[in-house]
Amino acid sequence: MSGYRIAVFASGTGGNFQALAEAAAEGRLGGATVELLVCDKPAAPVVGRAERLGIPAHLFVPKQYGSREEYEAEIVAKLEELDIDLVVLAGYMRLLTSVIVDKYAGRLINIHPSLLPAFPGTNAIGQALDYGVKLSGVTVHFVDGGMDTGPIIAQRAIEVAEHETEESFAQAVHAVEQELYPQVVALFAQGRVKLEGRKVTLLKG
Ligand code: GAR
Repeated sequence: MSGYRIAVFASGTGGNFQALAEAAAEGRLGGATVELLVCDKPAAPVVGRAERLGIPAHLFVPKQYGSREEYEAEIVAKLEELDIDLVVLAGYMRLLTSVIVDKYAGRLINIHPSLLPAFPGTNAIGQALDYGVKLSGVTVHFVDGGMDTGPIIAQRAIEVAEHETEESFAQAVHAVEQELYPQVVALFAQGRVKLEGRKVTLLKG
């Protein structure tokens, strides 16, 4: 199979999934194509988006499996069958085990709604606003075995306004994410992301 092929993992709304799929369709993904959605919540809105976009979905219900390793082995088989080059987590709300993390080391990325290493884990936007930061933002990083701990690929800062609410800040974060993530995936597709230790270099085109 040819071209640079990505799979997107998502659990919820799917705004980033949609942005990636649209970027691919509009030729803004460095030639990459979105070949698969992997979703652990069959009723999530992202599933309807995949249907409308004509992108195949692998849906599963985690509690129907004996262990995380079991459903991840099934996912890896699917990724291999489709010859996936890059696994892109976009609001996938589960920690991955070594079954996927080891297999796709260096080819597995995530987007997180804070300036890591600040505010890892769930509800990063709420955590940041509760803390009272004046600046937060978005991070795209490689995934390792930890919680949002992998090498940082790209970050964008966003100022917190005077009377910011979680809703208004989430809107700002999502807009930045949906612009940044396709740009980063395009860099991967063009072979312009170099990882050495924890340091990531984005090579000029
Ligand atoms: C995004 O804001 C993403 O950064 C966040 O979930 C949202 C998914 O939105 N991910 C995490 O918090 C991961 N720790 P989407 O479904 O509209 O793309």
